[in-house]
Amino acid sequence: MADGLSGTFTTKPTVGEMNKPEFNATPIQADRGFRIINQLHVNRERERALLIAGLLASPAHIEPKYFYDELGCTLYAAICQLDEYYPTRTERAIFQQYRSEISAKIAEHGRCGTFVDLGAGDCVKAMSWLPHIQPKRYLAVDIAGPSLATALANMATEFPETEMVGLVTDFSLELVIPAGLLLERTTLFYPGSSIGNFTPANATQFLVQMRRHTKGGGLLIGVDAKKDKRRLDAAYADALGVTAAFNLNALRHINRVIGTDFVEAQWRHVGAYNEPLGRVEMYLESIIGQNVIIDGHARGYANGERIHSENSYKYTQAEFASMLREAGFSNISVWTDSEQAFWVFYAS
Ligand code: AVJ
Repeated sequence: MADGLSGTFTTKPTVGEMNKPEFNATPIQADRGFRIINQLHVNRERERALLIAGLLASPAHIEPKYFYDELGCTLYAAICQLDEYYPTRTERAIFQQYRSEISAKIAEHGRCGTFVDLGAGDCVKAMSWLPHIQPKRYLAVDIAGPSLATALANMATEFPETEMVGLVTDFSLELVIPAGLLLERTTLFYPGSSIGNFTPANATQFLVQMRRHTKGGGLLIGVDAKKDKRRLDAAYADALGVTAAFNLNALRHINRVIGTDFVEAQWRHVGAYNEPLGRVEMYLESIIGQNVIIDGHARGYANGERIHSENSYKYTQAEFASMLREAGFSNISVWTDSEQAFWVFYAS
């Protein structure tokens, strides 16, 4: 195929070409039974306007999706290996310990049709579920196309019985999955406590959107637990400075996307648990008084002024279970680790 990807590669016409160069830059040699659908009909102008408005606002803010350019994805993978960052390894341990039990729950009303992996990334987490769940179709959904193509090529070889589909989309505002891709008894898989990036109200709305896609199946979701402030602070301000690099890298990404001239060395990472609000907050804090050219205008940032870059909400078991019920789920199971540091819910 012209773009070097195997299978069908559908691209809706987009206003800009923000995402296409990355795609074309990924040489995938293949004809290995997977297809990728590009639904990133991002309105480039709207994205740009929202980003600029956030940077100009007081207090300034950006969306966490700007962390995830290629380097950002690598830095996040590095975060997941840090001693201080317990969520990934704790979730993995819960999955491993209760794999059969969880798989049995998922299969309770019949074999899973589509296994939807939200924020699939390198598909490694899903890889350990497929032999147990044996879905008819695996649908990897992610905003980053190139890594998805690489991962799906591997998956297709590894699991010839399962139909492999990739969907490149930004579901942070709305979850839109072409109806034809969802078979009866769809399992939505949303691991890693990514739900924590939403405010509780928006998280509940997102749970409703996910429930509407289940078609008689359910939702398997990882949720980080409220815990000791010291432990949370350490997880988001690690000693090696990987989280700092991850946060600061958003400025490099934004420079590339909208042509700003942020200098990373003039900002510092702040990450700490705001206990009353039940969320970790991350900021980029200006370490000098400075001007940044944003959309042709100089925006002054005072020494100590912050750009909010992420919220990561933490929930008690009861809090999240009640959000699931509020979102219309009724059959709810939960698994946890010995320290109750992390929850894995299955809700149908
Ligand atoms: C990918 C949203 C689950 O909130 O823990 C890790 C992102 N930010 N360290 C999280 C993140 C800083 C992560 N999520």
